[in-house]
Amino acid sequence: MKKILIIHGPNLNLLGQRQTDVYGNMTLDKLNLRLEELAAEAKVLLSIVQSNHEGEIVDIIGKAKDEGINGILINPAAYTHTSVAIRDAILAVNLPVVEVHISNIYAREDFRQKSLISPVCTGQISGFGSESYVLGLKAIVDIVNKV
Ligand code: DQA
Repeated sequence: MKKILIIHGPNLNLLGQRQTDVYGNMTLDKLNLRLEELAAEAKVLLSIVQSNHEGEIVDIIGKAKDEGINGILINPAAYTHTSVAIRDAILAVNLPVVEVHISNIYAREDFRQKSLISPVCTGQISGFGSESYVLGLKAIVDIVNKV
């Protein structure tokens, strides 16, 4: 079975409590449960992590290939706009990566409208609420099944 790594970046542990007007009411646990159900239907395995620490995310991406991961779905959260280190980790690991955002980052503050991550990803999904993850999972499943 193909293995997909899902990385939730900083503050996404607070989903459901955090700026609910922007990020909605769904908690991270509920969202992960939904993704696990979809993965079971699609016959792929998920490894799901959340981290508030840039270096930890870099380490997790760096180890992905050795751990048998075939593709990555990532919401880099605030690191989207700042992290050369996460961008370089994605380039280094050389796996297909889909970037997702709950909010439409292009409709928000200027500093959110630039992603340092998207140029090194296969594609990006932004602005569909927690459904962005569902769409992103479908996208990465299609990609890993073609490889
Ligand atoms: C986010 C958008 C980022 O700008 C923000 O820092 C987040 C969440 C999103 O999913 O919409 O934490 O990645």
